[in-house]
Amino acid sequence: AHVITGLCQDTKDQSCVEVCPVDCIHPAQSLDGDEAFEATPQLYIDPDVCIDCGACVPECPVGAIFMEEDLAPEDEKYIEINAAFYRK
Ligand code: SF4
Ligand code: F3S
Repeated sequence: AHVITGLCQDTKDQSCVEVCPVDCIHPAQSLDGDEAFEATPQLYIDPDVCIDCGACVPECPVGAIFMEEDLAPEDEKYIEINAAFYRK
């Protein structure tokens, strides 16, 4: 799956949300409401729904999204951080 790293934090641009064909990026203002969006430090990709189309990667203005396999070692923790959001 693709993974959103901590670079998303403080930006939360949401351009990724608009292009995702399977709506697997949350919590987004348009999909989940203002309250959920404002409460989150960053957005997360649901690894069980992401189809690895890659459409979100070039849309992010801060380059926060990577293929799981392409993450820098210090960003590998975000695989679990993204997945954990969908387990609660
Ligand atoms: Fe959505 Fe495609 Fe990005 Fe996965 S890679 S989060 S399916 S836009
Ligand atoms: Fe975050 Fe980039 Fe999407 S800043 S919300 S991953 S477009």
